[in-house]
Amino acid sequence: MPSKSSKNKTAYICSQCGFESPKWYGKCPSCNEWNTMQEEFVATQRAASKPYSRTGTSKIHTLSEINPDGEKRCKTGLRELDRVLGGGIVPGELMLIGGDPGIGKSTLLLQICEHLGKQAKIMYVSGEESLRQIKLRADRLGVQSQNLYILCETDVDTIIDNMLREKPGFLIIDSIQTMNLEAIASASGSVTQVRESTSAIMRAAKAEDVPVFIVSHVNKDGAIAGPKVMEHIVDCVLYFEGDRNTSYRILRCIKNRYGSTNEIGVFEMCDQGLREVENPSLMLLSGRPHNVSGTCVACIMEGTRPLLAEVQGLVSPTGFGNPRRMATGFDYNRLSLLLAVLEKRAGYFFSNLDAYVNVIGGLRLDEPAADMPVALSLISSLKDQVIGDKIVAFGEIGLAGEIRSVSNIESRIGEAVRLGFTKILLPHQNLKGASRHEGVELVGVKNIRDAYEALL
Ligand code: TYD
Ligand code: MG
Repeated sequence: MPSKSSKNKTAYICSQCGFESPKWYGKCPSCNEWNTMQEEFVATQRAASKPYSRTGTSKIHTLSEINPDGEKRCKTGLRELDRVLGGGIVPGELMLIGGDPGIGKSTLLLQICEHLGKQAKIMYVSGEESLRQIKLRADRLGVQSQNLYILCETDVDTIIDNMLREKPGFLIIDSIQTMNLEAIASASGSVTQVRESTSAIMRAAKAEDVPVFIVSHVNKDGAIAGPKVMEHIVDCVLYFEGDRNTSYRILRCIKNRYGSTNEIGVFEMCDQGLREVENPSLMLLSGRPHNVSGTCVACIMEGTRPLLAEVQGLVSPTGFGNPRRMATGFDYNRLSLLLAVLEKRAGYFFSNLDAYVNVIGGLRLDEPAADMPVALSLISSLKDQVIGDKIVAFGEIGLAGEIRSVSNIESRIGEAVRLGFTKILLPHQNLKGASRHEGVELVGVKNIRDAYEALL
């Protein structure tokens, strides 16, 4: 614990959200996480307020005076990453890549160096790995760029000095939790240290117009500060997700000042690093069981891209008094709601049965259009009737048991047709505007009973 003195004042800071308080709490009043308040030195004098700006003075401008030349985007060489970034890297952009340790953040960034190196000099700062380790990994990834400069350093001032001297076109910081600003008394990885180091790097990089990638570990036990404490500082927040047991990784955009936030990128981790998955629907549907009840294919939108995913439902008699409900990749409360609607409006009874829902491939179905496939997979398991494997369903379920219309009908149908599905269940209202494809049956359904009967 830091000792108190008048010079080094301490405060309790939540390592999840950065909430600051003079007294300790067991549960953070701001983000409601338990046991995340840590005592830290607070910067009495803002260490990071050194002027890194080249001009030194601030001036006001009208919009017409501002030259939008900077909008030219650099490609990273990975199309999936470009898509998530909104088309490429914008000059001076600060990008945060968060994710569990070992998910592949360092691999992704080292891999794009080969392509970025063709455009400009790259400074790759690692506070975690030695030069040798990075070299070995680069060899494995086939990165040989002469424009890639490695710096193993954790002191932020030294990094900024190096950056101002070497003038790289791209800066990569791996990871922010190992970085340390000397003027701040707290240990590296603490909230104050992470926040101030990020701001210092940001100020220097914005003044020089250098795009920066910052790697940040997601940490659940609160020992080190997670990406939440700097999300508001940076321009773009990407999360790298995926199950450690499977090789698929999803890159998801949470915040983007230069593009849409709904996009995802899909990768597969192989021996030679990350490989882009060009056809995620095919990947998500591979290995689907045949002639088994309780599985249904859903069509959801991730940003501008339609994705087909397999939804599995399992219903079995309850062993104890209380039936269990469990959902992986689907909202738990939404599942309870759907079960209630199925009982009350459609006459399918689940009250003495356990119900489980699982979405394959580590995907999360947050879109209302996933309601219908989830409900159908549960009914299929309840009745032990197989849903044909050329059927796709999408539609939102209302509390009256009605199927409500959804958006992006054309892209959804297009994707299903492309992957060879022959029967598409969609909301009745959407049927009118939908274009027909040869050999594909479009069935507009009004309520959940209709929908299930249309399958048989
Ligand atoms: P890494 O990028 O070090 O993760 P992070 O920086 O997010 O902590 O990824 C490490 C994991 O990736 C490790 O478990 C090994 C695996 N990996 C491969 O499967 N193939 C490869 O070519 C590389 C470089 C790593
Ligand atoms: Mg790493």
